[in-house]
Amino acid sequence: MNDLDFLRTPEGRALLDEVRDTDPAQELAVATRLRRTHPAPLVSAALGQARLRQRAVAKFGAADAGRMFFTPNGVEQSTRASVAAYRAERLHGLGVRSVADLCCGIGGDAIALARAGIRVLAVDRDPLTCEAARANADALGLADLIEVREADVTEVGTAPYDAVFVDPARRGGRGRIFDPEAYSPPLSWAVAAARTASRAAALKVAPGIPHEAVPADAEAEWISDGGDVKEAVLWFGAGAAPGAVRATLLPGPRTLPGTGLPDPEARTPGRYLYEPDGAVVRAHLVAEVAAQVGGGLLDATIAYVTADELRPTPYATAYEITDRMPFNVKKLKALLRERGVGTLTVKKRGSAVEPEELRKKVRPQGPNAATVFLTRVAGAPTMLIGHPAR
Ligand SMILES: C[S@@+](CC[C@H](N)C(=O)[O-])C[C@H]1O[C@@H](n2cnc3c(N)ncnc32)[C@H](O)[C@@H]1O
Repeated sequence: MNDLDFLRTPEGRALLDEVRDTDPAQELAVATRLRRTHPAPLVSAALGQARLRQRAVAKFGAADAGRMFFTPNGVEQSTRASVAAYRAERLHGLGVRSVADLCCGIGGDAIALARAGIRVLAVDRDPLTCEAARANADALGLADLIEVREADVTEVGTAPYDAVFVDPARRGGRGRIFDPEAYSPPLSWAVAAARTASRAAALKVAPGIPHEAVPADAEAEWISDGGDVKEAVLWFGAGAAPGAVRATLLPGPRTLPGTGLPDPEARTPGRYLYEPDGAVVRAHLVAEVAAQVGGGLLDATIAYVTADELRPTPYATAYEITDRMPFNVKKLKALLRERGVGTLTVKKRGSAVEPEELRKKVRPQGPNAATVFLTRVAGAPTMLIGHPAR
């Protein structure tokens, strides 16, 4: 019996309940106590699973994470529930009622698809990962909708399904993989599989995918959640406009479609600085945001938008700039002291300065808060000081 099998027995569940909220600092003491009544490998398995569940809370929320089963790679590589739910809703909206989820991992996407009312064939070649996916479908009451199959995805027929979803492994023995052809399976295989889908297909890829690597018949969507860029998705078939680009921000969703605007011109700094959401930057849609706020770029090579007016947009955070000067630590220190700034947020684009180093050097003290942007204006290293616009 492997660890997962044991953890799903009544004894395993009881042990998991007992260690559920173990503080990492108390783990040794808890393990020592439990080993008096339980075999040591089972105690380690329960404590290990409890740790994975704690890590999974950020992705799945406490209620689901507390019932699910994870492997270390499985929790690391799984899609966060908000993003998976957004994609699943989009597929459901396209009339998709069954999906071949190729590379299902512990089932992050399969769960969201099933919750959207979609029947799922969930395929992974790793036996333990498949077991976790099965346990999760079971634990969340979705076993009727999710069939987990242990197989190489390249050997699975997808014809009976409305849609194909592929989330290739992007981590190898030496960490993250950047070349899409080094994914497992390679992107070219996933694209070929997507093109055979009867209705629609979605491929999850790294947000850093070069735009040139996006096939001409795909729509590319960059997704962020809470301001953090999570992934890019290549959509094929129904509902996907070939060559189109969009940025989607969660929660929401709020979607900014590309309109093909050329890069905005650089202009003299105005009263407001707009920091576009990372998904907007990755999707190369800074021009669309600049057009919304009536602005231009601070520097032709940097994704900060400057404008004279405050025009709130969900796609960028606006800051009111009070001071601008060439980069100079002493001057910054003096200015912050004069303003009584004790809480300094450092943001940077196009600067090699380390925010922590800078904060140490200027030693902010006082009751006020400020944001400093380290960037370039017309090529010159510049500091812009301000605060979020109200
Ligand atoms: C990024 S993870 C999938 C995560 C999943 N979407 C989730 O949200 O939980 C990729 C998975 O692909 C599996 N994989 C890689 N190559 C495969 C292949 N050729 N056939 C089947 N599974 C494969 C790995 O075992 C891994 O579990």
